[in-house]
Amino acid sequence: MPLSIIILAAGQGTRMKSSRPKVLHPLAGKPMLQHVIDKSFALKPDQVILVIGHGADQLRAQMQNQELEFVEQSEQLGTGHAVAQSLAVLKPDNDLLVLYGDVPMISVDALQTLLNNNKSSVVNVLSFLPDDSSGYGRIVRQTDDKVVAIVEEKDANESQKQIRESNSGIVVIDGDQVKYLIDKLDNDNAQREYYLTDVVKHAVASGLSVSATICDDANEVLGVNNQAQLAQVEAIYRQQQASKLMNAGVKLYDPLRIDVRGSLTVGVDVEIDVNCVFIGDVKLGDNVSIAANCVIANSTIAANSNILPMTSIDTASIGQRVSIGPFARIRPGTECADEVKIGNFVETKKSQIGAGSKVSHLSYIGDTEMGSDVNIGAGTITCNYDGVNKFKTIIEDDVFVGSDTQLVAPVIVGKGSTIGAGSTITRDTPEGKLTLTRAKQLTLSGWLRPVKKQQD
Ligand code: UD1
Ligand code: CA
Repeated sequence: MPLSIIILAAGQGTRMKSSRPKVLHPLAGKPMLQHVIDKSFALKPDQVILVIGHGADQLRAQMQNQELEFVEQSEQLGTGHAVAQSLAVLKPDNDLLVLYGDVPMISVDALQTLLNNNKSSVVNVLSFLPDDSSGYGRIVRQTDDKVVAIVEEKDANESQKQIRESNSGIVVIDGDQVKYLIDKLDNDNAQREYYLTDVVKHAVASGLSVSATICDDANEVLGVNNQAQLAQVEAIYRQQQASKLMNAGVKLYDPLRIDVRGSLTVGVDVEIDVNCVFIGDVKLGDNVSIAANCVIANSTIAANSNILPMTSIDTASIGQRVSIGPFARIRPGTECADEVKIGNFVETKKSQIGAGSKVSHLSYIGDTEMGSDVNIGAGTITCNYDGVNKFKTIIEDDVFVGSDTQLVAPVIVGKGSTIGAGSTITRDTPEGKLTLTRAKQLTLSGWLRPVKKQQD
């Protein structure tokens, strides 16, 4: 039977103590709800319904352009009530999988296992065995192990509170019985809420089969209710990413000190030192090494390149055998060809840097097209901005720019030309010539250093 998925995300998340709706808090750089949505689509369902309530406008805005059907639950009367609100759009007879917006670590594998297991049961709950069950609904089994009910902690008696097996909240319900079971829910309980979990007891009372599939990894079903749990989940996510990288052959100097917030693709023999953060889509070629304390976002770094400590690279493409840093800032639109060297305290933006060119110290290169084998002296600045508009600097092949030079754009530094140190270049420079704007050095004879006045 085709599958419909309902993701519950209407709750406020008061315990986060934040103005932002709970499910929009980022986990590894994207809203925790987005993690759940991405996993939902990985199951190739017929429809995905998102139940929203608190912060509904914000959720709609952030989650648009995805094939989601929104259902608004204006009053949060419980998880069962949330599902009941969705019946109007839920395709009849589709099997139903219910996911929670605040249970973001669930894996596609675990969901697939849940869907494939116990296919004959009408209700199949994903349970788990936490070290501490407090706060969770407990799975009540008969002596023959049959699941007969889920009891919320607030409704549980002392012996039920001793049960370790807990409800993840995630459940699959047979399409033929969804409406029948949801219609039976009432709010006759300690919290005066319509509990989705009560479908278990109603199914049992109607002679329908119920099962629970225990999730092997309790970390996958951790619910996020406060900042401490969010940090805990973030730490687990980090460790998972680190393990994946090490399994792919990456040398991590310390797997506890790397943070991948997105997707990091690696070649062979990649090395990553401590405290590096990778954001968005990052690709590292064979033999790339990343030194300590680098932040790299949405960039590609080709084979045999070295990124030295404290370097920030954002939306850039870096060629082979390139060296960048320490303390370099590579901003969006930077394209370094092979064998480029960018040294300390250099900032680049929206610039092409040709093969073998070097910008070794203390420079700003912006809106620049630089040819190959150029040498930029320390402290060179491309003056690309007149306060209103941006202009381009073109530096042709084989140019040598002396230290402390300003290239005032728009300007072309001709092929093979040399610029004397300390120049302010405002006009194009001819090929192969030395150009400089410096005043002539002179020495004054008879000049005396000032001496300190005597106080009387
Ligand atoms: C729920 C389960 C509990 C389980 C636990 C796992 C019920 C009655 N209890 O309890 O058995 O162990 O999750 O984490 O289902 N929501 C709505 N509309 C509502 C109420 C909730 O959309 O009216 C959403 C929330 O935004 C949240 C999810 O449903 O994403 C769970 O709600 P929450 O109140 O956190 O349930 P728990 O008390 O944690
Ligand atoms: Ca919860």
